[in-house]
Amino acid sequence: MRKFMTLISEEMEKAFAAAGYDSALGRVTVSNRPDLCEYQCNGAMAGAKRYHKAPLMIAGDVAKALEGSSVFESVEAVKPGFLNLKVSEKFASDYIRQMGEDERFGMPLPGKPSTIILDYGGPNVAKPLHVGHLRSAVIGESVKRIARWHGEKVIGDIHLGDWGLQMGLVITEVKKRQPELPYFDADFAGDYPEEAPFTVSELEEIYPTASAKSKEDPEYYAEAMANTHRLQDGDRGLRALWQKIIDVSVADLKKNYENLNVDFDLWWGESSVHDAIPAMVQGMRDSGKAYESSGALVVDVSEETDTKEIPPCIILKSDGASLYTTTDLATISERERLYHPDKIIYITDKRQELHFKQVFRCARRCGLLPESTELVHIGFGTMNGKDGKPFKTREGGVMRLSTLIADINEEMKRKISANPEIGEEEAERTAEQVALAALKYGDLSNQASKDYVFDIDRFTSFEGDTGPYLLYTIVRIKSILSKYEESTGRKAKDQEIALPKSKLEKDLMLDLTAFQSVMDGAYQDAAPHRICAYIYELSNDFNSFYHATRILTESDEAKRNGWIALLALTLRVMETCIDVLGFSAPDRM
Ligand code: ARG
Repeated sequence: MRKFMTLISEEMEKAFAAAGYDSALGRVTVSNRPDLCEYQCNGAMAGAKRYHKAPLMIAGDVAKALEGSSVFESVEAVKPGFLNLKVSEKFASDYIRQMGEDERFGMPLPGKPSTIILDYGGPNVAKPLHVGHLRSAVIGESVKRIARWHGEKVIGDIHLGDWGLQMGLVITEVKKRQPELPYFDADFAGDYPEEAPFTVSELEEIYPTASAKSKEDPEYYAEAMANTHRLQDGDRGLRALWQKIIDVSVADLKKNYENLNVDFDLWWGESSVHDAIPAMVQGMRDSGKAYESSGALVVDVSEETDTKEIPPCIILKSDGASLYTTTDLATISERERLYHPDKIIYITDKRQELHFKQVFRCARRCGLLPESTELVHIGFGTMNGKDGKPFKTREGGVMRLSTLIADINEEMKRKISANPEIGEEEAERTAEQVALAALKYGDLSNQASKDYVFDIDRFTSFEGDTGPYLLYTIVRIKSILSKYEESTGRKAKDQEIALPKSKLEKDLMLDLTAFQSVMDGAYQDAAPHRICAYIYELSNDFNSFYHATRILTESDEAKRNGWIALLALTLRVMETCIDVLGFSAPDRM
């Protein structure tokens, strides 16, 4: 099916042409005066100069050409030259009836799907997940689902931070505590123990301890650096210990992400491309792009048009060590070698903007991937507390993701337990489901690049622009539909959408017609917040219609069945939308 907006614009374009004007003037937009009309066209204003005519005259000519249109119910030329439009009830209801007949609501699949690699999550091994990683996971998961829904082939990669100094720090601290372990014995030739020498909670304590010590004690720091090098150079014992750190940490990460309804196709890390670095560096040297500068190996990435200086990309430090940049570049090479992606999207804190600018330019300059491959960085803003400062624990420390989730679960459980019909166990399950919606919607409903305030009270409210409000609306529809099915023995999905009986009903229908444009726009701009805004409006319009209409007690069967069909479609659209946002709705709450 073609987009609703495209169809009505075409009708308008034909009318401009029929009245003797350029058809390109006939673009239709949603009305910015919903009290006066549903859609509008400003083409007559734009054409006034060209045709040396008053805009109102042009608009009048076009309105005349639209007399008898099956698309528009009314076309008004108003001062100073706007065309105020209402679409025909039949045209709108026919359109959504057709949408309902198709699994994808009439949205076509791309001719040839693109291959997209989505780099998100990005947790660091051995460090606990903190709220900063929440945004990357939540936004990334949604961007992935939106692109998949659009019909693209998306490969999600977590890109673990598993190779830098933090690994050397953990190794150093473990060595201080358990020097007798075979990992540190250069002469040990046997098999290393199955069991890791630490639990995940020990690991989470080891890293901050080591990090603090290294800041106070230069010798400790030097040792951690040395261990990082030995690990990267392939020391057998340290590699084996490192693998234990990865195993323990990844098992825990998997649990955490599962709770967030986030999953990855690839669990690559910075370390995965270690062996690909030498060949990449050699290529950069051979092409003359990389050169020595005060001992380090660098590639210039500045461009003439830069207004701010973009420093060169450091590929190798003077001691030969690779950096975050190096592993990111080698990862691009490997992704190209294995997947030939059309696009690679990275989702990180926007403070990494310069890093990605350098990496992208360097990758292009060194020819690591074809010209046509798109590289995109989506930088997100900070999650702040109510005080407007980065979200912290009450004691002022970095908030752990698990604590934050526990807090929001608890608040949700308190609210849901207030419903006496819901037992303890169901309340618990439902609270988790609704809390996830509260958390994710609270994040996704903001444009990603903006900072936002994490406000548990607001996010968990059943009213306003919140996740729980949407779920509540969905639950309400589900309940009406099941009551209908129970009392009539008919299936809601077999009913047919009829002509709207009221303005509120038509408004709801018009919201539904916009589905395809919204999904497509959210895909093109990697913008989940557009979907949020859409279902919020859809929910509001549904609730207005619902409050004004006695659906189940309507005695005119045809009327009632038409409404049931409209509700069933509204429900399917809403559930599709929340699914691409990464959460789901319970049956009751
Ligand atoms: N581990 C990094 C961090 O915590 C994020 C990784 C993002 N992805 C990438 N390819 N650099 O900041």
